[in-house]
Amino acid sequence: MKAVILAGGTGSRLFPTTYVINKHLLPIYNKPMIYYPLSLVMLTKIREVVFVVNPEDIPLYKKLFGEGENLGMKIMYAVQEKPLGLAHALLTAEKFINDGEVKHSVCLVLGDNIFFGHGIAEILYQAKDDVEKNGGAYVFGYFVNDPERYGVVEFDSGGRVISIEEKPKNPKSNFAVVGLYFYDNTVFEKAKKIKPSWRGELEITSVNEEYLKERKLKVKLLGRGFAWFDAGTHDSFLEAGEFVATIEKKTGLMIGCIEEIAYRNGWISKQKLEEIAKKLSKTDYGEYLIKILKE
Ligand code: TTP
Repeated sequence: MKAVILAGGTGSRLFPTTYVINKHLLPIYNKPMIYYPLSLVMLTKIREVVFVVNPEDIPLYKKLFGEGENLGMKIMYAVQEKPLGLAHALLTAEKFINDGEVKHSVCLVLGDNIFFGHGIAEILYQAKDDVEKNGGAYVFGYFVNDPERYGVVEFDSGGRVISIEEKPKNPKSNFAVVGLYFYDNTVFEKAKKIKPSWRGELEITSVNEEYLKERKLKVKLLGRGFAWFDAGTHDSFLEAGEFVATIEKKTGLMIGCIEEIAYRNGWISKQKLEEIAKKLSKTDYGEYLIKILKE
């Protein structure tokens, strides 16, 4: 399985801040927003990642991540010329997902989604394993107060999914589909088949509906013990930053520290981590890496 992280879009809900700066490079407390979705992918032990970015942002992302050498990963970049929707963005990454005849399954993550909760790595790993073995799609539902802002999933009394609707005026449940999806390789065929929505975008919800029609959509609910932020508005951006700061200060453990995960996954050496920590020596981030080196 390879991962696709979406870092394009317009970020219009964060205007004027995002007039000239890509939303995903803004800091959520002490690190760029994009570190959080990348860290999830790494916790799922996926080592090959495609970032989908706007054309003007390519140099910035390359400066930040290169080809993944500092993380022991393979990082690639797909350019989305125009923000025509999440399914459109996924399609721009297709050529990096298939290696000739070998067609990989995909973990798709939205670059502005932040997750935290005990056992999240195991849950994601299990979803990955399920899709790799059985195909289909695996998505996650989260109880929210304002479901009309999201893709909403409706269940029957037996817990089976009946419908999934994008930003409904009258939501049929409070369960939002979060921005983290696991798909088999037929996702590309499906994304090519769907039609743009009323807002002119190729919606990921339409792709999920295709899986639902084939009875191949699994939805796992994330319970109360999980925190999920879509950091795309001013308030949620601030809340996410405050949340990360609170947890990190209380526990002394970092959320979304990509070098720590790379090291613990055995993807980078001690020397490499030391080299990175030295560059960050004036920060708590660097001190944290030094603490890990001493373990
Ligand atoms: P959104 O938050 O729905 O869109 P946006 O980032 O353009 O923000 P706004 O609504 O404020 O204008 O996008 C969800 C994620 O997907 C976000 O991380 C950006 C990314 N994205 C793309 O990469 N390409 C796209 O075409 C779109 C619409 C979003």
